[in-house]
Amino acid sequence: MKDGYRFMGALYEIIGAIYSLGRIPRCKVSMLKHVKPGDRVLVAGVGHGTEAVAAARMGALVTAVDLSPTMIKQLQKKIARSGLDTSGLDTSGSNGSSPSPPPIQMINDNILNVTDPDGYDMVIANFFLNVFPRELMTEIFHHMTGLVKPGGCMVIGDFTLPAAGGWVFRVFQNIYWYIAAIFFWITADNAVHQVYDYPEMLKSKGFDIPEITYFNIFGIKSYWSILGKKPKP
Ligand SMILES: C[S@@+](CC[C@H](N)C(=O)[O-])C[C@H]1O[C@@H](n2cnc3c(N)ncnc32)[C@H](O)[C@@H]1O
Repeated sequence: MKDGYRFMGALYEIIGAIYSLGRIPRCKVSMLKHVKPGDRVLVAGVGHGTEAVAAARMGALVTAVDLSPTMIKQLQKKIARSGLDTSGLDTSGSNGSSPSPPPIQMINDNILNVTDPDGYDMVIANFFLNVFPRELMTEIFHHMTGLVKPGGCMVIGDFTLPAAGGWVFRVFQNIYWYIAAIFFWITADNAVHQVYDYPEMLKSKGFDIPEITYFNIFGIKSYWSILGKKPKP
């Protein structure tokens, strides 16, 4: 299994917090206000797991998936520091084998290998889909939308699409994104591409977009957290 984050995985979260002047950590948890105790929440490409731990604290049943063993270790450390009851913690990837329900079930695997016939109330992709070239991103996005149960939602937190606000804003948003993309291309072999239009992608899958929260830097929309709701049949 290729671990693109083995060199800088430990520093990943602090780099994001500094580069975003604290906006990324806020962006990652902003839609958790829609989580209710007992909800099933899936976090794909969980990294250090800020939102996974926050959702577990709210009483959600969290499944956290990451391909990188380095990132899974960082998540384990965060859970250990979190004060969550880890007595039944299950890192095996299998459901229901623990004596008590684990606060966070960790799966060290490709998200494409994760299936669930019941579906999740919330599927989260924070700063995740942007690591892939368009074709693979589309495949993973399609797979993830299939994991949302009818009436459930998908949350995407990421860099904003350089669009509204005039050309000065668009230049800033583009430069801001490409600096990050090139840094992670060098350090983690992520793809470099134009910012993806996540609201349009969600709409194309029949999702409604009831809410988008923006996080600004110098008054410029720099990050967004998008709530997509899957209609009931
Ligand atoms: C840019 S990081 C984002 C981490 C975290 N979501 C955050 O916002 O801090 C992308 C994460 O996706 C993971 N990843 C990449 N490809 C993956 C895949 N196919 N399945 C699951 N995780 C993957 C990486 O290991 C990394 O932890």
